[in-house]
Amino acid sequence: QIAGPCALVMFGVTGDLARKKLLPAIYDLTNRGLLPPGFSLIGFARRDWDDAKFAEIVRDEVKAGARTPFREEAWRNLADGLRFVRGTFDDDAAFDELARTLEKLDAERGTGGNAGFYLSIPPGAFETVCSQLDRSGLASPDDDSWRRVVIEKPFGHDLASARELNSTVERVFPADAIFRIDHYLGKETVQNLLALRFANQLFEPVWNAHYVDHVQITMAEDIGIAGRAGYYDGIGAARDVIQNHLLQLLALTAMEQPNSFGANELRAEKEKVLAAVRLPDDLATATARGQYTAGWQGSEKVVGYLDEDGIDPRSTTETYAALKLQVHTRRWAGVPFYLRTGKRLGKRVSEIAVVFKRAPHLPFTDTATEELGQNAIVIRVQPDEGTTLRFGSKVPGAGSMEVRDVTMDFSYGSAFTESSPEAYERLILDMLLGDPPLFPRHEEVELSWRILDPVERFWARRGHPECYESGSWGPQSAHDLLARDGREWRLP
Ligand code: BG6
Repeated sequence: QIAGPCALVMFGVTGDLARKKLLPAIYDLTNRGLLPPGFSLIGFARRDWDDAKFAEIVRDEVKAGARTPFREEAWRNLADGLRFVRGTFDDDAAFDELARTLEKLDAERGTGGNAGFYLSIPPGAFETVCSQLDRSGLASPDDDSWRRVVIEKPFGHDLASARELNSTVERVFPADAIFRIDHYLGKETVQNLLALRFANQLFEPVWNAHYVDHVQITMAEDIGIAGRAGYYDGIGAARDVIQNHLLQLLALTAMEQPNSFGANELRAEKEKVLAAVRLPDDLATATARGQYTAGWQGSEKVVGYLDEDGIDPRSTTETYAALKLQVHTRRWAGVPFYLRTGKRLGKRVSEIAVVFKRAPHLPFTDTATEELGQNAIVIRVQPDEGTTLRFGSKVPGAGSMEVRDVTMDFSYGSAFTESSPEAYERLILDMLLGDPPLFPRHEEVELSWRILDPVERFWARRGHPECYESGSWGPQSAHDLLARDGREWRLP
């Protein structure tokens, strides 16, 4: 579906996210013909740029980061609607100029007065920008047009600050005009979880505590903090990834089938799961956290977290976090959900592994029971997107009945000729279309903080996180966490 007439204003357009992800995604949408003919993009920033300089920068970022090939014609379409407004967030005149620019674009290019405001800026600046949008009349559409705001995580750093942030934005924009981006929800493989579960008869009957032993949700990265010291230090792995991406994956894995995939139905089911999540009483044994030290990442020697540029050498920020959670519903009674994320781990991989109980009886004398792994469905979120099914098979050969684990693989690369859009493409388009199911609403954000807050408070009292070597699979305490339950982390 193609978006209707509109403009998009990007605050923080000189930042990393905008340059590496958002601008290339907007070009890709143009190239795929999904943006309207008069689509206009306005960059708002402090830099001393004009329209031409802005266009030059966008062109460079598009060439470096777009998924689709660079086509002069698509580029011209996008470039014709590029404008730059220079100003700081507290500058009334700059916002008035922005309002005039939007009006002019409507007259020249037919944007219909519709505009999205993408706040790719630190949350500390939300209040100022929202007030400015309010003051300058930009937040209030005419009867026949729309105004929407997009906000990026972190949505606060705990429940109290998330509430404050929500009320700041909701003072200016109605709830249905606020689009909170969790880019994991824009990933094809994450949306496919809904198809896997609810379009098939095969999985849902065993997707419960009768058959499932436990679930492991992993988001591992091989990179370090990639120059984002200012953002990351003091935030850490749990706030950066568990509070949003991993709890969203948990919610989609554990939720009941919604009546429809409409925004309210889908989000209500996720919220029920998040509200049913419980932490074990003993956080010392149910959580683990670590901080990477120097080591080898493949053939590259890398520095430890405390030696990264811009990091306080006494920092106690964790770069690895793992949690054990329970979902207190009939479907999941007694099934642990283990979540882990970390930087500078052995490999970049995100996956959801649903691990099944062992068969209640094995009539094979030639196979030691412990040699057989447990059946598992592994949803490979990235890279190498797909799904793996693991089960036991007879090893070929006469005279014995030995059973060994094998895997059956679905891989996007070989099953589909269609290419997957980048998560941000999907989410930006959905926002322009006014289609909200993939955007968490504030209830979900608050429920997620409610889960994480006690863990953060517990960790804050514990001093320095345990060290782990770069390139390893995290601190010993994370392995102990599963070993205590007689389990181990998958080695993806
Ligand atoms: C972001 C985190 O939300 O996700 C980053 O802030 C992380 O720290 C990134 O690197 C990973 O995204 P992806 O899509 O590469 O898994």
